Amino acid sequence: MEFAKLNDGNQLPLLGLGVWQVPDGSSCENAVRWALDLGYRHIDTAQAYRNEASVGKALRDSGVPRDEVFITTKFYPGGKDPVAEAEHSLRRLGLDQVDLYLVHWPQGGPVRAWPGMERARERGLARSIGVSNFSAADLDAVTGAGSVVPAANQVQFSAVEYRRGLLEACHRHGIALEAYSPLGTGRHLRDRRVADIAARTGRTPAQVLLRWCVQHGVPVIPKSTHRERIAENAQIFDFSLSAADMAALDELDKTRGTDRALERSWWR
Ligand code: A2P
Repeated sequence: MEFAKLNDGNQLPLLGLGVWQVPDGSSCENAVRWALDLGYRHIDTAQAYRNEASVGKALRDSGVPRDEVFITTKFYPGGKDPVAEAEHSLRRLGLDQVDLYLVHWPQGGPVRAWPGMERARERGLARSIGVSNFSAADLDAVTGAGSVVPAANQVQFSAVEYRRGLLEACHRHGIALEAYSPLGTGRHLRDRRVADIAARTGRTPAQVLLRWCVQHGVPVIPKSTHRERIAENAQIFDFSLSAADMAALDELDKTRGTDRALERSWWR
């Protein structure tokens, strides 16, 4: 497994399983257990997904030692207190600490939740803290106001949403950009140009899209509830894309290299 080094010294595995939109119960437990059996060591959940209990159960059932797995959860920003909500998450997960705790989106402004996030880290509830769905301007605000710089900013990011300005802003602040929806929630798998590169390199469209991210140094958390796809999505460290294929994929960007995290902020 390859890692991204975070600004607090912790290491984030470049590949994780995302469980957004996976219902609590057997489908989430199966997906997480399969992923752990197949060698994944990074699982990404959130309070808003309502499946933390299944993630915790699958982790215990897997027999993989706790300290070998990187677990992320996210503060639901409709809530008041990140510390109290982290304690609730840990109870549901059956853990003493998460590896990464993110503000899920900047509701109420980019700074509102941050003092509580810093307290959650001070109390040992999370090893690292960060943000999600933060634009470059949001990052400027939170880094200017707090004493801890977020370790990560998890955003919608793929070849088709190549937010170059946001990636550069993250680099400037020493923040790791993490990619959610790296397959465009499945839509980008049907892109003809992705399919052409996949056919030529003997890989699948999913592997090409995921490899594009990790080759840019960006951690990815593809979601799947199918064992064979979870396995397929992990086979991205045994090949590389040529400079020409990387450049061709870079060209798929439809965001015009934006420094925004989203085209529309649903919480405003
Ligand atoms: P499923 O969960 O039914 O396997 P993203 O990570 O960008 O949000 O994309 C997730 C979507 O892509 C889900 O609908 C998932 O379907 C599908 N998916 C994930 N991996 C693959 C794959 N290797 N091949 C085809 N579809 C995939």
